[in-house]
Formats: sequence, structure tokens, C-alpha cells
Amino acid sequence: MEQKRSTFSGRLGFVLAAAGSAVGLGNIWRFPYLAAKYGGGMFLLVYLVLVMTVGFSLMVAEIAIGRRTGRSAIGAFRALNRRYTFIGYLVSAVPFFILPYYCVVGGWVAKYWAASTLGRGGLLADSGYFDAFVSRPIEPLVWFFLFLTLTALLVLTGVEKGVEKVCKWMMPVQAVLSVLVAVYVMLLPGAGEGVAYYLKPDLSRFSIRTVLAAMGQMFFSMSLAMGVMITYGSYMKEEVNLHTAVRQIELFDTGIAFVSGLMVVPAVFAVAGPQALDTGPGLMFVTLPRLFDRMPGGHLVGTVFFLSVLLAALTSTISMMETVVSILQDRWGWSRRGICVAVWAVVLLAGVPLSLGYGPWSGFRVLDRHFPDLLDFMTNQILMPVAALLTCLFVGYALGPRSLIEEARLKRGEAAVFTVVIRYAAPVCILLILLTSLLSFFGVLQI
Ligand code: PHE
Repeated sequence: MEQKRSTFSGRLGFVLAAAGSAVGLGNIWRFPYLAAKYGGGMFLLVYLVLVMTVGFSLMVAEIAIGRRTGRSAIGAFRALNRRYTFIGYLVSAVPFFILPYYCVVGGWVAKYWAASTLGRGGLLADSGYFDAFVSRPIEPLVWFFLFLTLTALLVLTGVEKGVEKVCKWMMPVQAVLSVLVAVYVMLLPGAGEGVAYYLKPDLSRFSIRTVLAAMGQMFFSMSLAMGVMITYGSYMKEEVNLHTAVRQIELFDTGIAFVSGLMVVPAVFAVAGPQALDTGPGLMFVTLPRLFDRMPGGHLVGTVFFLSVLLAALTSTISMMETVVSILQDRWGWSRRGICVAVWAVVLLAGVPLSLGYGPWSGFRVLDRHFPDLLDFMTNQILMPVAALLTCLFVGYALGPRSLIEEARLKRGEAAVFTVVIRYAAPVCILLILLTSLLSFFGVLQI
């Protein structure tokens, strides 16, 4: 029996929920680190151009596919052209892989937030603390369990009541918190050098790697190529202007990434100097607690900071789980509650070895690779680019861009850009990423 499809109440609800999906750990620790590594202002510029062209077109395409068909990924591709249903399956596979991984890291953030709130910031600031924490067998698992269960409960309450309501207040709160912390950090002694480093374009550091890093980051950050935007598009009302909504989501996503850079990069300079910029995940979990511990009022700033990261991560996992639930609901018509419980259980099972992979099982290798790193590689560098490529080719050639241009009500100039990007520019760029990551994976290319 066909169930009535729930919808977001209006543009604001849609934009905040989609922006909630887009803004996450990708923006807060990954973006600043990449920007610092790949030429500061130069990276920002390349990223911006990509967001406004490839990112814009793909997001418009995905949301339009969702709204036109009123289905999540698998059903949507099936409805548009039965022969291409397999793209829907591929796209839908991505959140299944990312969700356990993301919930493990979400659990770490929850732990750091709880510890900061309880006044244990000094402990977190200890240089070996992060490694010691993730190596413990049980504690990270408990936080992972709590984070996952909270996500499932929020998804269980349904689109309008749960997802939209939570995002409606979480997103603005998160934006305000980020700006406050960034301003605070920038006023610290020594931070000015970091601000200059982050913003000043360094032409000499521009290379193809800048473009590749920016492109990979853009897909992940905008939640593209994993069915999330198709699902959210299917909940979008007909009268909402899709094109304006996408612009606003992009503004939110890029804005938070930019502010996060202003929050993290100068903080690293003030605390540990530029060499610490290469720390990756440790950047957030190691350097920042040290900063919070040192500065006056750092207890409060640290608590607020980790709360904002927690909210950002939570709105992202909600969107991933919602996508998975929606796909199963559309495909087999099971009850929402049953699906939520099933997805919760599967993610729990998948997350346990992942979590342990950072600790007691860190020596365990698959294909001669650290197991969590391999998973990250498979999803970000292989599955996602392939899914994005197939989506572009499908829209550009099999379906034809016209129906989606109509759905999004693009103006002439925008429609021309959309067509060129979807048909030519995006497929070429994505193929480049795919080739480069494969070559580097097999050690042919050093990047
Ligand atoms: N865009 C999110 C981030 O930047 C991650 C995400 C991936 C969210 C996939 C939803 C789906 O952290």
C-alpha cells in the first residue's frame, strides 16, 4: 500500500535540513586542514569555483531527480529509466558504508564534549590522550553506541517532527557558535600569522593536487553522490524554488567551512606552530584541547566548540540514516520503526570492528591497509566519484538535462552552465579524481 510521503514544511525547513546534512565533520576538521596544506587562499578560490559550478549542478540535479520522482535513490532512477536502476543501487550503497564510520568519529566528539563539560579539559590537553582514548577497547564503543542510538531515535520520530525540527534550531545555533569561537581564537596572541597563512593565496603551491583535494572535499562536504540530496529532494514541496534553495545550502556549507578554517588554523599557529597543520584528525582532537586548556575561559570555549561539532555531526548522520531508511521504505514498504531498528542494528555491528580498528585491532590489515583507512578510501575515492560520474552521464545523455532544468526552473544562462557542467566539465574532472586516486592507491603516483 502506498504510504503518504512526508514533506518538509517549506523552503526554510528544507534548506536547514539539507544544510544540516552538508555541514559536518568534513567542514570542521577536514576543510581547514586541506586549505592549509594546499595553498591557503589558492585552495579557497579553487574550492569556491568548484562549488559554484560542479557542486551546484550536481546538487540541482540530485534534488530535482528526487522531487520529480518523489522517490529516494533506487526508486528515483527506476522511475526515470528502468535500465538505469543500478545507478540508484550504487548511490544508495554509499551511506551504508559511511554511516558506521561517521558514527564512530561522532562518538569521539561526544566523548570530548562530555569531558569538556565536566571540566576535564586539562586531561584532553595531554598530548597522548587522544591515542590512549581511541586505543581503549570499551569506552569508544560506548560513545559510538550512544551517538548511533541518538541518531536512530531522532530519525525514528519522522521527517517533519524529528529531522526538520532538530535541524531548524541546530543549524543556526551551530553557525553562531562557530563564529563566536572563531572571533575568540583570532584575538589570541600569535593567531594573526595563522589568519594570514590561511587567507593569503600562495601561487607557488598551486598544482593539480589542489584541484583534486578541493574536488574530493566538495563531494563529501556537499553530501553529493550518495543519494542524500535525492531523498531530501523527494520531501521538497513543488512550490519551493529549488535553485534558490541550492544557493542557500551552498552558502551555509561553504560559510561554515570557511569559518572553521578561521577557527582551527590560527588556533594551531597560536598553540603549536605550522608543523602541526599536518596532523589530520588529530588537529581537532589534540591541538584544540591544548589551546582551550591554556586560554582564559577555555573551559567554556572548549565545551561550546565540541557541542557545535557534535551538532554538526549529528545533523549529518541523521541525513545519512534518513536516506537509508527512506530507500528501504520505498523499496519494500516496511514500517519506519522496523527499518530504523534494523538499520540501527546493522550499523552497530559494522561499527564495532571499525571502532576497534583504531584501538586493539589496529594491527589488523586488509589488502595490506589499515582497515578503517581502506574503508575510507573505498567510499570517498572510488564509490563516490563513480556514483557521481554515472549520475552526470545519466542526466547528461540518457535522461537529457531539459526535464531537470524545468524542474529546477533554471534561467537561460544557468541552464547553459548546468548542461555544460553535467555533460562535459564534471565527468572529465571526476574521471581525473578517480584515475589519480587509483594510481596513488597502487603506488604508481605519489600524491
Ligand atoms: N557532508 C557531511 C560532512 O561534511 C558528510 C556527509 C556525508 C553527510 C554523506 C551526509 C552524507 O561532514
